[in-house]
Amino acid sequence: MIFVCRQSLNLAAVLSLLSTVVAASVTSKGQTVTVEGSTYFVPPTVVTNLKVPSGRFKDECDLVPLTVIRSDSKKLATAGIKEVVDSYEASDDVFNTGFLQNIYVTYNGSHKGPSHALSLPPSWGNEWLGFAAPYGAKNAVHNTKDIPPGPYFLSPATGNVFEAYLLYADTMGSFTEGLIQAGDGSYNLLSAGLQGNALTIGVPSRLYFTKTPKQPLAGVRLGVKDIYDIKGVKTSCGNRAYYDLYPPANTTGPAVQSLVDAGAVIVGKMKTSQFANGESPTADWVDYHSPFNARGDGYQDPSSSSSGPGSGIGAYPWLDIAIGSDTGGSIRNPSQVNGCFGNRPSWGLVSLDNVMPMSPLLDTAGFLTRDAKLWRTASEVMYAGAHLTSYTKYPKNIKTIGFPTSASTEVTGLVLEFLSNLSAFLGGANISALDYDELWAATKPSTVSADETLNTLLNLTYPILITKQQFPLVGGPLYTDYAAANGGRRPFINPVPLSRWNWGLGYPESQLEAEIEKKEVFTAWWNSTVQVSDPETCSDSLILYVGATASPNYRNAYRSMPGIPTGFSPSRIANIAGVPDIVIPVGEAPYNSTITLQPEYLPVAVDIIAAHGCDLMLLNLVNELAARGIIKEPGTGSLMYGNGTAYY
Ligand SMILES: *[C@@H]1O[C@H](CO)[C@@H](O)[C@H](O)[C@H]1NC(C)=O
Ligand SMILES: *[C@@H]1O[C@H](CO)[C@@H](O)[C@H](O)[C@H]1NC(C)=O
Ligand SMILES: *[C@@H]1O[C@H](CO)[C@@H](O)[C@H](O)[C@H]1NC(C)=O
Ligand SMILES: *[C@@H]1O[C@H](CO)[C@@H](O)[C@H](O)[C@H]1NC(C)=O
Ligand SMILES: *[C@@H]1O[C@H](CO)[C@@H](O)[C@H](O)[C@H]1NC(C)=O
Ligand SMILES: *[C@@H]1O[C@H](CO)[C@@H](O)[C@H](O)[C@H]1NC(C)=O
Ligand SMILES: *[C@@H]1O[C@H](CO)[C@@H](O)[C@H](O)[C@H]1NC(C)=O
Ligand SMILES: *[C@@H]1O[C@H](CO)[C@@H](O)[C@H](O)[C@H]1NC(C)=O
Repeated sequence: MIFVCRQSLNLAAVLSLLSTVVAASVTSKGQTVTVEGSTYFVPPTVVTNLKVPSGRFKDECDLVPLTVIRSDSKKLATAGIKEVVDSYEASDDVFNTGFLQNIYVTYNGSHKGPSHALSLPPSWGNEWLGFAAPYGAKNAVHNTKDIPPGPYFLSPATGNVFEAYLLYADTMGSFTEGLIQAGDGSYNLLSAGLQGNALTIGVPSRLYFTKTPKQPLAGVRLGVKDIYDIKGVKTSCGNRAYYDLYPPANTTGPAVQSLVDAGAVIVGKMKTSQFANGESPTADWVDYHSPFNARGDGYQDPSSSSSGPGSGIGAYPWLDIAIGSDTGGSIRNPSQVNGCFGNRPSWGLVSLDNVMPMSPLLDTAGFLTRDAKLWRTASEVMYAGAHLTSYTKYPKNIKTIGFPTSASTEVTGLVLEFLSNLSAFLGGANISALDYDELWAATKPSTVSADETLNTLLNLTYPILITKQQFPLVGGPLYTDYAAANGGRRPFINPVPLSRWNWGLGYPESQLEAEIEKKEVFTAWWNSTVQVSDPETCSDSLILYVGATASPNYRNAYRSMPGIPTGFSPSRIANIAGVPDIVIPVGEAPYNSTITLQPEYLPVAVDIIAAHGCDLMLLNLVNELAARGIIKEPGTGSLMYGNGTAYY
């Protein structure tokens, strides 16, 4: 047992000294300590107070580690305690045996205190075993407040107890800041550092949380893309001037708040490409550096714009889920290349108040995660207001867009195997190829001119919507506010958003109106002719396309000047028609890395599109496929199906 007080400064002593000299206000932001070689953050909030026998502790440290165990057993036995400790070690990364130096058993208060004749392992270095009946007790033994089991820190001098947050280094650069709850609904920056050149993120013990019907996300560690406002914290939107200019947010928006209310723990803000535009490493990322993609050789583009969420979910086993946003692929693309699940939901399921807009007609909030069940639960929480029906019968028609026809490579083999697995699961689904250009030519509305293809009709729809809607909502106000604060100056804008905004400014407002109308035309055609609602299965079909093909996209490549995202492709269907499009990792395939000079593996993914509002049907389907071993939940690191490290 080793417990090291890294911060030897005793804040209480400093405070009492100061109070005799000047009435300066000193606020503790918590401290950093190590237990058995792991580094912990100790928030300043006292969670309970214990009656500590006097003279029990030598006073060389102002904090000692403490494990709280809950047991109603009238006779505590060594085996029982060992069993609890084993379960703590198996289920919680924050707990370690160093916390067993002091053990505190809480029980229900119906008896006077357990008898105990324990012989605990000497390696635990047990110094103190205390008891109290603070929970649900009529005759509480001590006046302590009930706290859940798990690792804590105890101040022997005061009896105050503090939570333990294990610290992790953000080695992939996925985060913009580590956050910790302030206790009043707002958040503070985590004031802890672990390693140079990387942010530090703190996670609370999983043992503190119990999932309940009201809190189905209790203890789930959540990363938040840095375009969502969180009360007490600044939002950067990936731009330094923006971060500096505007004050901390005074409210957490409803999408994120719904997750917090359901028990999720925000551990930090995660990187976004600037104003959520499509940026490539490295030259496009001028204000902030692109995060790293842990897959393969570790030097692949993590994609845009929920880059931090994709990177972190692909890299960190201690991060459970991240909330991203998808306007034109911003959740789907990072999910595909970082090897995780991701959903662009049906448009309009949740309020995007207090979220930076790109195009309100296209913007959506969704998740990136490795855990299929959590994905569904988080979606049920965040989209609750949309009252979606949770269909558990699935479409028997599969339509594929641009699928391979033969399994000639590992990638095409995986894609076709998934298709046949899915079709078999659905009881022999009818698989057909969808050529939407051909279908459009045959069935397009008569209001559209005869020679209009989807490529010509929708060529400018996406870029006009994002530029002509984002500039007046974000860019213009930023120019004005920044100029007012900086003697008329213009703020720096990264090349991609700047060139896009300027391009959009070259079109009249009437172009925006025209493109919105084209969007309506496409949506109505899609939802009446291509994929329609179904009373039994929500959607008449599942439409599949290949999302990721294990093709390397190195981050150290020199690229051309940024262009305008014109044109039409399968990934634009969901953007324009407002239908859900989810990413399913189906395997990984090798490429020869020019970095490591070895074969490495990158994700292969398939996307599934369904009719509007069929999000829960899709997530139920994914869970059934996962339960049958057809979909394997990915781990983190270089390889998708382990929990390896990333190379760097
Ligand atoms: C408390 O635990 C004891 C077992 O030790 C049990 O018999 C009793 O019913 C429990 N009381 C309450 C109120 O849960
Ligand atoms: C929060 O900030 C917004 C935007 O700066 C402002 O309009 C609003 O009045 C503020 N609300 C409160 C409760 O301070
Ligand atoms: C197909 O399903 C089997 C389990 O039945 C699974 O082992 C295999 O990995 C699946 N392959 C793909 C690509 O989905
Ligand atoms: C299979 O799908 C094709 C294309 O959508 C359709 O023409 C055909 O009728 C379907 N067959 C069955 C048995 O549903
Ligand atoms: C799409 O728009 C771009 C930019 O205006 C133009 O260069 C291109 O030819 C257009 N493509 C189609 C298919 O209309
Ligand atoms: C289909 O699209 C039209 C046009 O956008 C829209 O009004 C309608 O609500 C859509 N129907 C469904 C079921 O999504
Ligand atoms: C990697 O290189 C070797 C040797 O040139 C070649 O045989 C192999 O096909 C390559 N593998 C891939 C996945 O490209
Ligand atoms: C990776 O680690 C996480 C957290 O410890 C665990 O839940 C998950 O099952 C592991 N995944 C794999 C594929 O080993």
